[in-house]
This record gives sequence, C-alpha cells and structure tokens, in this order.
Amino acid sequence: MIRFFENHSLKPHNTFNIEAKSRFYFEFTEISDLKHFITSSSYLSENKILIVGEGSNILFLSDFDGLVIHPNISGMRQVKEDSRNIWIETGAGEIWNEFVKYCVGLQLGGIENLSLIPGTVGAAPVQNIGAYGQEVANVIERVKGFDFEKNEDFEYSNRECFFGYRDSIFKHTLRNRFIITSVVFKLSKFPEFRLDYGNLKEKVNQYGGVNLENIKCAINEIRMSKLPDVKELGSAGSFFKNPVVNIQLAEKIEAKFGKIPVYNTGDGKVKIAAGWLVEQCGWKGFRKGDVGVHGKQALVLLNYGNATGKEIFVLSEKIKQTVFNKFGIELEREVNCV
Ligand code: EPU
Repeated sequence: MIRFFENHSLKPHNTFNIEAKSRFYFEFTEISDLKHFITSSSYLSENKILIVGEGSNILFLSDFDGLVIHPNISGMRQVKEDSRNIWIETGAGEIWNEFVKYCVGLQLGGIENLSLIPGTVGAAPVQNIGAYGQEVANVIERVKGFDFEKNEDFEYSNRECFFGYRDSIFKHTLRNRFIITSVVFKLSKFPEFRLDYGNLKEKVNQYGGVNLENIKCAINEIRMSKLPDVKELGSAGSFFKNPVVNIQLAEKIEAKFGKIPVYNTGDGKVKIAAGWLVEQCGWKGFRKGDVGVHGKQALVLLNYGNATGKEIFVLSEKIKQTVFNKFGIELEREVNCV
C-alpha cells in the first residue's frame, strides 16, 4: 500500500511536534511499492529526499522542499536458529519498543536495556541507538535496503555499517541515498545481563530478581522518571552527544569544578556527561515561551506547544556557546537538523 501527498504536514511525523510541511510525502508498506514508485514517476530523481521513520531524532528548521519518504514495512520473523541464538528479521516500519517487547516475551536477550526508546526499527541502526550499557550495534547482523544511486537492493553486514557512538555509515556516505527496509538481529537465548548502570541492579531486584522482563520494567521506570513522554511534550531525547575529551582536559575541569560524571572510553579519553555540562551552565529547567530545557535531564530540549524548529535551534546554539565559554568543549548535536 502507498500513501502519497503534496504539501503534507510533518507535525505527526516528528516527536518535537514541530509544524513543517514537505512538498511531497510518500509512504509505502511493500518494497515492490517503492520500486514501482521509482520506475513509474520522476519524483525521486527530481527532488531532494529525506527518509523519516517516527521522526524521533529530527528537528525541522523550515518546510522541506523535497520528497519525504516513510518506509512503513512491518513484520518480525525468525530467520535462523542455533543452540545459542535466534535471528529475527524485522521490517523498518515496526515500532522499536514493540520489537523490544516481542523479544523479551520470547525470552531473547540483547535489547532489553533499550526498552522505551522512541523510533522505528529502521531508524535504530542509523544512529546506533544505545542506553544503559547496550547498543543496538551489538545485536545487528545485517541491514537490508534499497540504494537509490545504484538503483538496486543492497545489504550491509554489521562490520560494513561502521557503527560508532550514535553513528553509522547511514548517517554519512549513505545518508538519504539508502533506504533501510529491514534489519536482521541476532538475539541470545542465554543473555549476558548489563546491570552496571547506576542503580539498575537494585531496581531490577525490586521487581523480583534478574530476568529480561524485570530488566525491561526497571529500565522503563528509570526512563519515565527522567525523560519526557514524547506523546505529551515535544522532544527528541538527548539533543547533544556526550563529548569525548582527553583525560587531561577532564582532570582540569574536575580540579576547577569538582567531581564530574565521566565514562571511560579506554583510549586515553573520557566521555563527559553533556547533561552535567549543560546543567552547570544553569540551563536545567529553563523555559522561555514554548522552548525549554527539561528539568530532570538537561540534555533534553523541549517544545512546550507551538515552538518553531528555529527557536529550538537558537536555544541549542546558546547552550553550545555557554558550554564552550565555561569548559572549552564544543558540544555536537545528536539530533538531525533539517
Ligand atoms: N547529569 C547531570 N545533569 C543532567 C543530566 C545528567 O548532572 O541534567 C549527569 C548525572 O551525573 C548522571 C549522568 O550525567 O548520572 C548521566 O546521565 P544519564 O544517565 O541521564 O545519561 P546521559 O549520559 O545524559 C545517555 C544517552 C541517553 C541514554 C542514557 C542512559 C547520549 C547522548 N545520551 O544520556 O540516550 O538514555 O545515557 O544510558 O548518549 C538519547 O540518545 O536520546 C538518549 C536519551
């Protein structure tokens, strides 16, 4: 099935709830629909394109004068099994959190800590979603899709995806050139639990002991206590990445400002919690008009109602500037600004 619109509102397609329009909008449920669209019309060759899943990592700064493509392919099917693992191929349009619930329900481990992350399965590899000690890159076997430049189906193995911290080849060379249609995940029948984040272990025990279901519930509780529900308040999760800096710089900051939250990356560098940097600059809980900074997690920018993408962007620039002035660290946006 396809849906095609002109001058289509993108408000329902971005979790920041920004009003923006796309000149053309195309949604499909079957790969054959996409191929038919390509061969029977010139929209794709004549317009710049933008691929959007649930729009949970995007900020529209203006209307999009091109073609927005939304892959809405569903389906989760087991494609392989051995004594330790099960491989599941999942359509790009499936909601990520539904996939997590499905795997936990089947007693398959590997993504339980990624519970409640907004977005679609097709978007998960693009920014290599991660939380509470797990990253989706660890369970991705292959990413399948269609290459607009080569005009053919293509597959990338895990290694070929060049996954990094909130990063992959799909954000760079293949950006808006390759549309992900499904992802093959390798999940474990005997999962190694990741409980080293904060008080996660304690929370899991409160739910009755260590198993996948209880980890999922504990993660959901932690997320709900810190992060806004995108159905109620416009946001796109962490707006900035946690910056990776030399240990020397972190030590200098520590000497001046006291203990800072860091994660060791093991190569003479550390990742500093950007939320802490932003909070230290006094932004936590800030609000002006309809734009603001979340009161429980300073890394999350908010649209309280009718903010424009530009207003949120301007706020993010101010935050970047103050963090740079105070700490000499240049924050990098995680959110894709269009
Ligand atoms: N912190 C502050 N003030 C704040 C926020 C955080 O001081 O306003 C400090 C606290 O010390 C806290 C530490 O930073 O203990 C870490 O905060 P948190 O556990 O909330 O995690 P984060 O580093 O801010 C990252 C991811 C999140 C992910 C969490 C949990 C990035 C950019 N963000 O946030 O991912 O859920 O870890 O693993 O890596 C996302 O990508 O959209 C996202 C929400």
